[in-house]
Amino acid sequence: MTEAITPLPAHIALIMDGNGRWAKRRGLPRNAGHQAGLKTLRQILRVAHDHDIACVTVFAFSSENWRRPQHEVSLLMDLLVRGLRKHVSELHARNVRVRFIGNRARLPTELCAQLRHSEELTAGNAGSMLNVAIDYGGQWDLAQAATAAAREHPQGLVDEHSLRRHLSLADCPDPDLLIRTGGEQRLSNFLLWQLAYTELYFTDVFWPDFSSQDFLAALHSYQQRDRRFGKVEDMVKDEDNQDASAAYSVLTSSA
Ligand code: IPE
Ligand code: IPE
Ligand code: MG
Repeated sequence: MTEAITPLPAHIALIMDGNGRWAKRRGLPRNAGHQAGLKTLRQILRVAHDHDIACVTVFAFSSENWRRPQHEVSLLMDLLVRGLRKHVSELHARNVRVRFIGNRARLPTELCAQLRHSEELTAGNAGSMLNVAIDYGGQWDLAQAATAAAREHPQGLVDEHSLRRHLSLADCPDPDLLIRTGGEQRLSNFLLWQLAYTELYFTDVFWPDFSSQDFLAALHSYQQRDRRFGKVEDMVKDEDNQDASAAYSVLTSSA
C-alpha cells in the first residue's frame, strides 16, 4: 500500500543532475548516465503518480546545455526522441497530460514532431500533468513573457499578473517543491519566476541513483517545512499549508 504523506506538494519541479558523474564513476561514457537517468525518471514518475502528485515539471535540457560537445548534444536529442516514442504510451495509459516548455526553434525536426505527437496524444488526459523543459531557460521565459505582455499593454503598464499570464506553466500552480540531485545547490536558469516561493531540496545523490526512497525522503522533508509566504508563524493556518499554491496566489493578488 502507498504510504500517505501530508501535506503533499501539488507541483514538484525536478532538476535531474549528475548523470555524467554517475557514468564517469563507473568508467562509462556520459551517455550511459543519460540512459540510466531516463530509467530513473520513469520510476520516479510512477512513484509520484502513486502519491497523487498533480503536476511534475522536469528539466531535461537547458538553454545552456547547447554548450556541451556536439556529440553529447546529439545523443541527448536522440534519447529524447526515442524515450518519448517508447514511453509516452505508458504516460497516456496513466491519464497523464504531457507538455513541453522551452524554445522549440532550435530543436531537431524529428524531436519537434515527437513533442507535438506526445502533446496531441495526451491532450485530453486529466489525471495529472507532466511538463518537460527542453531548451528551456528561466531568462528566456521571462523575456518571451515580457515581450508578449508588452504587446498586450502598449502603454507600458506591465505588472506581475499580466507578466505571469504569459510565462510557461501559467496554468499550473507554482512548484511547491524543487528537488535537485547531483550535489549542486543552484537553479541553473530553471523556472526563475515560478520558484519564487518554492521549497528547495538538494541531495548529493546522482540522478541515476535517485531511488523511490530518496524521493519519499524529499516529500518528508517538504512535509516538515513551515511555509509562511511572508506572514508570521501564527497567521499561517493549516489550511493555507494544505493548499499552499492557492494560499500564495491569494496573497499575491491581495498584496
Ligand atoms: C544532467 O546530468 C542531465 C543534463 C543536463 C541533460 P549531467 O549531464 O549534467 O551530469 P553531470 O552534472 O555532468 O554529472
Ligand atoms: C541543469 O544541469 C540542467 C538539467 C538538468 C537539464 P546542468 O548540469 O546543465 O547545470 P550546471 O551547468 O551544472 O549548472
Ligand atoms: Mg550537470
